[in-house]
Amino acid sequence: MIRKNNLVKNICCVGAGYVGGPTMAVIADKCPDIKVSVVDINEERIKAWNDENLDNLPIYEPGLVEVVKRSRNRNLFFGTNVDDSIENADMVFISVNTPIKSSGLGAFQASDLRWVEVCARRIGAAAKGHTIVVEKSTLPVRTAEIIKEILEAKTKSSRNDEDKKTFSVLSNPEFLAEGTAVNDLLNPDRVLIGGEDELAIEKLKNIYSKWVTNNKILCTSLWSSELSKLTANAFLAQRISSINSISAICEATGANITEVAKAVGLDSRIGNKFLNAGPGFGGSCFKKDILNLVYLCRYFDLDEVANYWEQIVQINNWQQTRIYEKIVEKLFRNLSGKRIAILGFAFKANTNDTRESPAIQIASNLLEEGSILQIHDPKVSKDQISNSLEVYHDNNKLDKSNLNDNWILKDTIEDAVINTDAVLILTEWDIYREINWVRISKLMRPPSWVFDTRLITNPQKVRDAGLNLWRLGEKENDIDNKFNSSKS
Ligand code: NAD
Ligand code: UGA
Repeated sequence: MIRKNNLVKNICCVGAGYVGGPTMAVIADKCPDIKVSVVDINEERIKAWNDENLDNLPIYEPGLVEVVKRSRNRNLFFGTNVDDSIENADMVFISVNTPIKSSGLGAFQASDLRWVEVCARRIGAAAKGHTIVVEKSTLPVRTAEIIKEILEAKTKSSRNDEDKKTFSVLSNPEFLAEGTAVNDLLNPDRVLIGGEDELAIEKLKNIYSKWVTNNKILCTSLWSSELSKLTANAFLAQRISSINSISAICEATGANITEVAKAVGLDSRIGNKFLNAGPGFGGSCFKKDILNLVYLCRYFDLDEVANYWEQIVQINNWQQTRIYEKIVEKLFRNLSGKRIAILGFAFKANTNDTRESPAIQIASNLLEEGSILQIHDPKVSKDQISNSLEVYHDNNKLDKSNLNDNWILKDTIEDAVINTDAVLILTEWDIYREINWVRISKLMRPPSWVFDTRLITNPQKVRDAGLNLWRLGEKENDIDNKFNSSKS
């Protein structure tokens, strides 16, 4: 077997998205001796990664600009020449998208592996000598087997020892969260490497050990690594659905979700992280990874397990529905022609990503009721909102004839609230914490409502401005409201 020398000199990453871009930027920054090429078929995206003006990078992540600035065009390169980059690499990361299938067997549950398969075939065709192939994308358990099979077909068809290709496949799932990606990459809780080829594992470990201590680098079998990634996301999502389900009980009983979350989280066995009630989890992964797990369980006839995990997604959908229903109820059960300001369209703060954002479902439902939406988000573009709403309308067979006439993206919070009956806070951007409610109340049409699904308002200030306030996970009647206000 031809092996290039023991140190990795050239890395290729296929996929310059939310994972490929930041992850490779950090590797390049920490390993100046390694040439890192990030390639993508999306020319626009690559152009943006190469833009001289670093404010135009395709992904907004705190701290990313600085990391890219240090290494871009030194040992970090972005390009579209996928085959050349694979050919020159000792190690190829697969960081392509793996969304849910939208048709065929496993539709709306199983991962669509078409991009991974194309990628594996391309690696098989373009690679030279020995290449370590690293699954960075989140994949169903045993996908490594499919990748190996595709690559081995190429190994077997090599004509002679000269052009013999060999491959080792590793699983190295990514645990970064958007909005904190750079920090998560620099200070990971753990780095997980699954595989069989010890030398390949060692080479990948050597890269991470430039900045991660050895006790945080965990090596497992391929299948454990793949399943651990799905399980970690399922557990995180489960916490959110758990606290969101309790938020509904709080509203019904008069308990307060912030107080309950604090009391529960102080138990060191439970911990205080990921206990913020909200409009439901969004992002490209939680839903798809749980549904993937559900699909896997059903495939292995584990129906009880599948039903258990499926419920996490159901509660998440229900949370979004009940927020929209609450708005309809408060606005006299009639939204026809009423203006509503939506503050925040990204699925969480500090990202420009809108994939699976709760704002999409909630906004679509409000539009269905005939309201006009004035949307504000500091980082999300009009095109993104437009695409998200279009896709949601198509998938749910909703009428799109007047869709684009009934919402508008506004540049400022003030512009967004003018003449509205209600303000709906969906993303916890810091600027929404500092809103001057007295000023806002003068721009709205009374009786005006504020719906705070992220619990970032100061209740007293909102009410003192003469606005009606509904906060997720808090009881609405006046006595309780006064009680809560007086304590904040
Ligand atoms: P993304 O859509 O932002 O990026 C994927 C990129 O791959 C796209 O730019 C696409 O054009 C490119 N691509 C697809 N097929 C290609 C091909 N054959 N050749 C070259 N480029 C190709 O996706 P993402 O958010 O970066 O996620 C990538 C993977 O990482 C997914 O499996 C996801 O589940 C996982 N993941 C994502 C996150 C996250 O926070 N976004 C975190 C951990 C893991
Ligand atoms: C999540 C995981 O946190 C990452 O570890 C994982 O790598 C990633 O998915 C992935 O595989 O894609 P991400 O989706 O970027 O990261 O962001 P999170 O911070 O996990 O938030 C997900 C959603 O849950 C957001 O909509 C957020 O608002 C919501 N959330 C989070 C809450 O409603 N409450 C919380 O307490 C925490």
